[in-house]
This record gives sequence, C-alpha cells and structure tokens, in this order.
Amino acid sequence: MCGIVGYIGNSKASEVLLKGLSYLEYRGYDSSGVALMAKNKIEIFKAPGKLNNLRDVLSSVQDICNKSTCGIGHIRWATHGLPTELNAHPHTCNCGSLVVVHNGIIENYKELKAELEKCGCEFKSQTDSEVAAHLIAHEFSKCKDLLKAMTSAVKKINGAYAFCAMHRTLPDRIIVARKNAPLIIGVGEGENFIASDIPAIIEYTKKAIYLNDNQVAEVKKDSIKITDLNGKILENKVEMLPFEPVALSKMGYKHYMLKEIHEQSDVARNVLSGKLKDSKSQITLQDVKLSENEIKNIKRIQIIACGTSLHAGLVGKYILEKFAKIPTDVEASSEYIYRDTIADNNTLVIGISQSGETADTITAIKQVKEKGSHVVIITNRPDSTMARLADSLLPVNAGIEVSVAATKSYMAQLLSLYLLTMFITQKINPETIKDKEIISLKQELLELPNKIETVTNDTEKIKAVAKKYSSFKDFIFIARGINYPTSLEGALKLKEISYINATGYSAGELKHGPIAMLDETMPVLAILNKGLVYDKVMSNCEEAKARQAKLIGVSNFIDKKHKDLFDDVLLIPDISDTLSPALNIVVLQLLAYYIAEYLGKDVDQPRNLAKSVTVE
Ligand code: G6P
Repeated sequence: MCGIVGYIGNSKASEVLLKGLSYLEYRGYDSSGVALMAKNKIEIFKAPGKLNNLRDVLSSVQDICNKSTCGIGHIRWATHGLPTELNAHPHTCNCGSLVVVHNGIIENYKELKAELEKCGCEFKSQTDSEVAAHLIAHEFSKCKDLLKAMTSAVKKINGAYAFCAMHRTLPDRIIVARKNAPLIIGVGEGENFIASDIPAIIEYTKKAIYLNDNQVAEVKKDSIKITDLNGKILENKVEMLPFEPVALSKMGYKHYMLKEIHEQSDVARNVLSGKLKDSKSQITLQDVKLSENEIKNIKRIQIIACGTSLHAGLVGKYILEKFAKIPTDVEASSEYIYRDTIADNNTLVIGISQSGETADTITAIKQVKEKGSHVVIITNRPDSTMARLADSLLPVNAGIEVSVAATKSYMAQLLSLYLLTMFITQKINPETIKDKEIISLKQELLELPNKIETVTNDTEKIKAVAKKYSSFKDFIFIARGINYPTSLEGALKLKEISYINATGYSAGELKHGPIAMLDETMPVLAILNKGLVYDKVMSNCEEAKARQAKLIGVSNFIDKKHKDLFDDVLLIPDISDTLSPALNIVVLQLLAYYIAEYLGKDVDQPRNLAKSVTVE
C-alpha cells in the first residue's frame, strides 16, 4: 500500500518520480504528491485523486521541474484521514524544511503527536505519517545530522514503515528507513533511486540494494551509506534485479482485467511447462526443497493467505486432503497471527500471495518459521519479501498483473496447488503414479489451457447474462464441495469491481439463514458440476426457486432439468469435479467483468482497493 519513489542525480527529478509513481499505482491511487529540492527551498506539489491530477499540477510549474534533480514522491492508499490534498504526502515539519513520505502505519502516532504538540509542533493533516515529519525534524534540531535524526526517530516509532526524507539544508541527500514495508535503493551511475518496488526504477537501473528491516540509509548521487539502528555501517549488498523493463499495454483490450482473463490459457501452459510432462510422469518441482523423509513426516498442512489467494488455498485443502491425505487447514493470515496457533516442525505451511508483500501473510510466515515449520511460498513475485523468507519457493510465472482484481494470478496459484499436491502425494507413495484418478487429473491439466480458451473465445452468452442482471443490487453465489471456494471468489470479483453486494455461500448452508433474504430481487448463481454434490446443489436451487429467486447456473453438461429450473445457464466444456474450479472461475471472472463494464465502473482501479496490501 502506498508507493514511494526517490531520485537524486542529474536528470529531471519530477520526470523520474512521475514515471516511477505510474508503475506503483497498483499500490494505491487515491492521491499523490512530490517534493522537489529547489534552491534553498523544498517545493511540494500534491493532488487528490488519480496520478494524472498530479501530472497536471506539475505541468504548470515547469520552471521548477526543469531545475530540480532531487526529489521524493508518493502515491497514497489512505489509512488515516480522507484522501484529500491536505492528507496527501509529502508531509512537512512546521517550517517546511524537512519533508517525508511514508508507507505503513505508525501505531503509536497519537502518543507521539501529543508529545510533539507539547514541543510546539502544529499538525495540519489527519494522517499518522505527519508525526514522522515533526519527529525527524525534532531529532534533527538536536544533532543536525539527518541520518542520525532518522535513526533516533524510527527507534521511537512502533508499527510498519518505509520512509524517505529530505532536508532543505542538505540538498545532496535523501535519507531512507524501513521496517515491515518494502524499499529498494536502485544503484545508478552518478544517480541513485529509491522505490517501493522494482518496476518503478527498472527502466533506469538493473542494480539494487534491498534495504532490510531496521536499516537506515543515506543516499547521495555518488554514494550510499547503510547503517543499523546503532549507527554501525553495513556492507552494501548490490543485487541484479530479476526484471526486464515492461511496456505495459492493454493489447487492444478495453481493460487490463479483460486482457488478463484472456491470458489465462497461456498462464496455465506456463505453470505446467517443465513440471508436468505427461499423464504418466512424476511432477517436477525444482525449488521445493522437501526430502521424501520430510514429506513423510508432515502431520498437518496449514495454508495461510488473504483475499483471492485465500480462495485458491481453500481449493488446495480439498485436493491435499483428497490425494495426499494430510489434514489441511486454511486460514486468513490476519486471523492466524493473533491467536495461539499450533505449528511445529511436522507442520508444512503454504503461504500464497500474488504480490509476496501482504503484511498479514508476512507476519504469519515469520511466526511459523520460528516454530520450525517448513514454509513453501506460492507467489507471482520471486523477488518479494515472502519469497525471501521461503524455505521452498513455487514461483507461479503469471507475468505482471496490472488490474487490481486478481484473475490470472489466481489461475496460476490454483494450478500450482494441483502440482504441489501431486508432488507431495507421489513422494508419500510413489505407487500413486499408477492411480487412475491421478493419471486422469494430469491428463485434464494438460488439456485445461484449450478448455480455458473455449470459454474466453465465446463470451456472447456471458455478456448477455451480465447485461440482463446488471441492475440487481444483491447476488448470492452458491456451490458445494470443491467449488465452494469458487463461489467465494466469484462473488468477491463481482463486489470488488462492480460494488454490487455479492456473497459466496455454501449451497447447503443457504437454508440456515441466507434463504430469508431470497425473493425476486436477489439472483442466485449456482455452480452445477456433474459429480458427488450435483443433486444436492440442484435441491438447494429448487429451494431458492420456491422463494422466487432468479437462478443462473454454471454447468459442464446439459441436463434437461436445467431448463425448468434456471433462468439462464452458462455452459463450460466438460471437466471433472476435481479440476472444475479452474474452469468455472473463468466464467465468473468474465461475468463480473462484463457487469462492471456495463455499469461503467473503473474496472482496473476499483475504488478503495490496492493490489499490494502492506499494512496489517
Ligand atoms: C489485495 C488484492 C487482492 C489480493 C489480496 C491478497 O486485497 O486486491 O487481489 O487477493 O490483496 O494479496 P496477495 O498479494 O497476498 O495475494
């Protein structure tokens, strides 16, 4: 959440900062701002709303922009205070000599604010971050050394932070600090960069230093000095960034989300490539460092994740228990971390995260590592904080996902879980290589990319259904068994991008409460896969119909009973119940997309959301 960029060198800082921020918009986009070092002065420009508003502000002050070669920038996802110009970063001390941008949450900001007010500090915003500006300035007034001032300030701060600060009297440096929020220092020739994430600077340099927690750095154009909180100078560990500059393009699609939904067949091919050769071969997962013995000693599995990744994890539970026969719990990271969870060295923990930076999941992973559990991380960012904490890594290679609503990364996570499950199963019992169900699952996985294409190539019916139901204010998505998580994910997609109140529910639980809400104003979408729970779901649909709810079915076969019961049925290619979540979800993503698009919503950047959530 929130994106930070800094630049010091010989080029126009405003251009580097604006470009950098545009690559960080996925971290938040409710307001933005920059501070530019000018002669004897720091100039601050801010704008509420999307980054384009800041671009407009800066284009009207070209004379200042042309001269400044040092600055810091920020794009905000509001935690404390409305997304207004006043609350946008950078924040300053009373006299405006010190400026700071912040990503994270200062948990003790109220106490610090009260103390600083006693010293004469006047607060202008409602943010927690402004405390940092006053606090660093206060420390600076004592020692006149910005690196030391930052160090003393962060020692007083509880919470999470990445800070970037400048002082009017020291125009040759930017000071940064980090704890539980990502920050990298890009290393250039006669210029250096600071960013929350690689895409913001990759066009300028491929070399970077990953700042660690509790480290502080002084960045000048020709030098970088890193210290710990005791002032001890640390070695600069410069790494090559694992990224090529990417030209972000919608490739003719109206939105990134639609493009990313359509990319899922290729994503599926990518995930499987090199890991699943044919239906009779073993699964190869090079970076999973669990020996046969260690796998045999696993007594339980815990999957920890948030949001869409959590839904992938729920599908993981079904398949892990079905094939590997290991008891598996799935839990939202935010719920996992503040209770007495039971994990030990016989527990395998699987952390799932497209960004690899989700604060709740990182905290959970750190906790279980202390308990001795082996941690497998499934992520789309092998360079992320979570990947660095992993004992075993399963990079999902979905490619950059721009749209805030996750689609192709979910597909990649799902398929990685199928592969991991079969990998664990084959280690526990090599004989399962001959198991008919596993052979058939592998064969189906190989056929899946083409089936996904069948769905994405023919969207007319989905579009028509989207249009027909777009005026409804509430939806309920139901399913049983392995598609119950699909109903959660389908409903999440719809509410994220259309703001329609959509709930995913276990079909069998409908009669225990939610049925009270059903009438002709609340459509029910049911997932109807041929298989163990089909007849049960059909009965639950009958119950909904008896309350006059409109019914939409998503099914992998034609049943003559559908015609009487359902208002609309969306057909998918035939697929086993076990693999069906990977195909059903494509229909639900498209349905959510077309409803939101029909309603004219900002599909790729829905209100209030961010793609990387780095605060607990
Ligand atoms: C945010 C995103 C979701 C994502 C969730 C978890 O809420 O908007 O799309 O599922 O974070 O993120 P992660 O990166 O850990 O998968």
